[in-house]
Amino acid sequence: MTLIEQIAALRIEIDREIPLIDSAEAADRFRLRHLVKKGTVQSCVEGLRLVPREEKPLVGKALNELRTRAEDAYATAQARYEQKSETATLDLTLPPRGQRRGAVHPITQTIDRLVDIFTSMGFEVAEGPDVEDDTHNFGKLNFAPDHPARDMQDTFFVDNEDRADVLLRTHTSSVQVRVMESMKPPIRCIMPGRVYRNEAVSARSLAEFHQIEGLYIDKGVSMADLKGTIMAFARRFYDENATFRFRASYFPFTEPSCEIDMSCFLCKGEGCRICKHSGWLEICGAGMVHPSVLEASGIDPTEYSGFAFGFGVERVVLMLTGIDDIRLLYENDIRVLSQF
Ligand code: PHE
Repeated sequence: MTLIEQIAALRIEIDREIPLIDSAEAADRFRLRHLVKKGTVQSCVEGLRLVPREEKPLVGKALNELRTRAEDAYATAQARYEQKSETATLDLTLPPRGQRRGAVHPITQTIDRLVDIFTSMGFEVAEGPDVEDDTHNFGKLNFAPDHPARDMQDTFFVDNEDRADVLLRTHTSSVQVRVMESMKPPIRCIMPGRVYRNEAVSARSLAEFHQIEGLYIDKGVSMADLKGTIMAFARRFYDENATFRFRASYFPFTEPSCEIDMSCFLCKGEGCRICKHSGWLEICGAGMVHPSVLEASGIDPTEYSGFAFGFGVERVVLMLTGIDDIRLLYENDIRVLSQF
């Protein structure tokens, strides 16, 4: 039998075998018979040496075609049965892995809860810009240009060719001003938002954090309304049986000003890690809106009075969760966040 006849016979054989490959094992048997070094195709290749020169191109071509045919058939069968065997190793009795669900960030959760309580008390939500001008952040809040109280809040100024008074708001009290400018009393608003201070980042402070501002302006509003509002809020938010103390304080935009502390909701005043063993938790700064502030925003201080307060949201979150490093709230580590 000449080589070309051998090749033709092999081809018939291979063509007959291909449709019979019905398993990974059969595919492998096919490969071992035809496609290895000692296989049928390779032995024809070796016979090629003895073929007369002028016949070599023709015989070579037939041989190449045959090889490709066998290789393709094997590759196809392998792909098909490999997949099958993978399916076979799936263990359908294993419990599912479960889907990770996203959750609202603890800071947002806290803001939502604060907002819920105040809106249920009749306050509405107002917002203002993060990039402010000096007038709204300081000027109309009774900070004179050289007032030392400006140093209480280290400010980030924004480079601006035309104006030197553009800054990132240092507190949400700037929104108070915008609300007073644009609304007529009675005004009952809470103003959540992000604020910025040029401070060194540490476990207790960040250069960027959140506040919630509250403002109530009407005829005959007094310090008693402020006390009642904050106490009603804090009893709902923290502890039904909380007691309070009002410490005198200073803010240029409120007179009188105070800071409000509540008995620690965890140790009930005994002293613990959360209240740093003082028995008290500071809740917010507050006070009666200064008459000059009302006047600067077009509200007549002889007719109206009001109170304002401001919470630091992150401080509330730390207090509630017992987290002792504020930076953890901003690192977006899923191991921390998935706990809330
Ligand atoms: N804006 C003050 C601060 O950031 C808080 C405050 C708000 C105090 C409203 C009094 C009234 O420290």
